[in-house]
Amino acid sequence: MRVLVAGGAGYIGSHVVKALLEGGHETITYDNLSKGHVEALHGGEFIQGDILDQDRLSRVLQERKVDLVIHLAADTAVGESMVNPAKYYWNNVVGGLKLLDSMRSAGVKYIVFSSSAAVYGEPAHIPIREDAPCNPTNVYGETKLIFERMLASYDRSYGLKYVSFRYFNAAGADPSGAIGEDHDPETQLIPLVLQTALGLRPSIEIFGIDYDTPDGTCIRDFIHVSDLASAHVLAAEALLGGMGSRIYNLGNETGNSVREVIRVCEEVVGHKIPVKEGPRRPGDPAMLVASSELARRELGWTPRFPDLKDIVATAWNWHKNHPYGFAGARGR
Ligand code: UFG
Repeated sequence: MRVLVAGGAGYIGSHVVKALLEGGHETITYDNLSKGHVEALHGGEFIQGDILDQDRLSRVLQERKVDLVIHLAADTAVGESMVNPAKYYWNNVVGGLKLLDSMRSAGVKYIVFSSSAAVYGEPAHIPIREDAPCNPTNVYGETKLIFERMLASYDRSYGLKYVSFRYFNAAGADPSGAIGEDHDPETQLIPLVLQTALGLRPSIEIFGIDYDTPDGTCIRDFIHVSDLASAHVLAAEALLGGMGSRIYNLGNETGNSVREVIRVCEEVVGHKIPVKEGPRRPGDPAMLVASSELARRELGWTPRFPDLKDIVATAWNWHKNHPYGFAGARGR
């Protein structure tokens, strides 16, 4: 199949492109490079473009005879979404709508969307199932939920078929070590801990030690980025094979606390990592753990890296060889 990957030069997107190419599919990465890196692409076609540019996107979809779109072109920083909500409504909601209408005008009927566990807000039950109530506690989660609702309307009225993946905490890097996580600024826990291990930061600050959890720190469900990527390939194939629209959680169904993550990082790097205890970060739910039973059962999805130590080991392999991310490859 021929797949347009919007946001394919980003962290998760570049792993999705790689998995598609390895599965024998054709890719067209459409990315404005606001966050992505061309160096993260090792094949397929690349077009620098914005999802807000509806005419261009419609033309690309039509000319390339695209079968399916994978949409990962969104802003993703929870904190920033509270300070600058306009950016999130523009890029994630208006941009998303333009993407859907480009698909409509080009006659593309299938989409896989990267949604987020942030749509749930503070969960009432753990593990979180897909039918749990959605009450996002930040604008980022709100914009992901709005797009999911647009997908449902477009299915009902225009016959668009979609899979929406609610990711839990994406982590790790491709086992080859060729691509990995590189955000500017970095806000994600595991890259920050590993940058501290490399001496690039003086310490890792734990945001809150007084949560109602066994060790007082937040608990998250870490899922390897290559496992997220393989789920996209399965979903794309299932949609083109006639499966109806679905919403799936993608996580490992295992919770690890912030302290546990730091401990596992210390094991992997082989030395202590300086830690500072700080106040809570506003908007952080105490515990997010997925039930991914539905994706496993319906898509036949099986994570290859369910163990946090293996996830961290692949991340370490990337960070120690690319301490400055893709910029290092360009020469700083
Ligand atoms: N944390 C620290 N110190 C840091 C950074 C993070 O203690 O320097 C803690 C956070 O408070 C949180 C945990 O580590 O408890 C994980 O934080 P991340 O920022 O790595 O990830 P989040 O769980 O906040 O967010 C991730 C994605 C979001 C998505 C969310 C949904 O980044 O896009 O999961 O679960 F919305």
